[in-house]
Amino acid sequence: MIQFIYESDKELFESAFRFAQKQVKRLIETYPDFYPMYTVSGAWKHAGPAWTHWCDGFLPGMMWLFVRHLGSGDAESEYWTEQAIRYSKPLEPRKNDRDVHDLGFIFFSTYYRWYRMTRDPAIREVVIQAGRTLAKRFNENGQYLRSFVAEDSIFIDIMMNVGIIFYAARETNDKRLRDVAVRHCITTRRYLVRGDGSTAHEGIFNLETGEFLRQSTQQGFRGDSCWSRGLTWSLYGFTTSYEYSRDPRFLHTAEACADYYITHTPADGVPPWDYNAPPENRSLVDSSAAAIAAAGLLRLCRHIGDPMKGHFYWSTAIHILRTLCTDYLAASDRGWGGVLKGGVYHLHKSLGVDESVMWGEYFFTEALEEALRILRTSSQAPTARYLNSRS
Ligand code: GLY
Repeated sequence: MIQFIYESDKELFESAFRFAQKQVKRLIETYPDFYPMYTVSGAWKHAGPAWTHWCDGFLPGMMWLFVRHLGSGDAESEYWTEQAIRYSKPLEPRKNDRDVHDLGFIFFSTYYRWYRMTRDPAIREVVIQAGRTLAKRFNENGQYLRSFVAEDSIFIDIMMNVGIIFYAARETNDKRLRDVAVRHCITTRRYLVRGDGSTAHEGIFNLETGEFLRQSTQQGFRGDSCWSRGLTWSLYGFTTSYEYSRDPRFLHTAEACADYYITHTPADGVPPWDYNAPPENRSLVDSSAAAIAAAGLLRLCRHIGDPMKGHFYWSTAIHILRTLCTDYLAASDRGWGGVLKGGVYHLHKSLGVDESVMWGEYFFTEALEEALRILRTSSQAPTARYLNSRS
């Protein structure tokens, strides 16, 4: 029965994966060496502002995922390897970028994946340097990595980036770096993750005393609301932090966020852009948050001791992917440049609202690749095999 169900998923996911390859090929042939962020009416190239410069890893990151899926040896995989290197290389100077808090997004999707394929120490060095640069954002008084907007501000999004500091610490055996990463996670769970597992987007501190002042937001509805993408950054980011630190507090936080997601998201698995959105835009969803949740749950389910709960996270991820493949894929709209419709970047600034967004494309591809790898090799109920192979 289980195998029968997953057989049809496999076909659905493989077809979506092929569509992602087709759209990326079309994009890079139409606009060579262009790094997109969000579409406007389905078109990647436009004059809309970026707000901040954090998305350049996602396009080459998708290419590395294509390579991983295809394996080595055939012409298609050689093509994607060539493109992935071509689009990753120009990002190297960003390893010293002090203007953004997004170096995990940029380098985990690219140089980290590249290194895992080649084991070339020079490539690993780039990831390590990015981790060292990110750690320079640490504010000692408040015990957090500051966001790009101001010295007194912390974002939930930074949980997706702190992993690169853990990585640099582990690879160089640098205890100070590890300590910075751990302290940032503790501060984030203390002030941005609420008792019910919901999250605030931003926190504001007193710079002189380091005292936490209030929850706030940039992209969510309000300081006391739960912006859905922030929740999924937290779910995924605390899972990564647990993988590096094995600190059970981070696993509990990831589970709390996952449980909030599951209990508050409509039955199809795609959340509203903000769980507390006002009536005038309550029906607006964010498919990118759903893609991040699917990718995060596929990682989180590996670490859950209770097999029933682990299976529940796995099957929730599969359910989300089914919905994305069925209701959000742009495949039937020939004029649309992206893979997934229904993403939201910044509602208040009217950027990328109900559009394709690069991080949605990337985490959707990551989740598809992960699910397909498990389904491809599974000869029994996938989660049992999945969990056993990783315990
Ligand atoms: N700045 C990260 C995000 O838009 O989710």
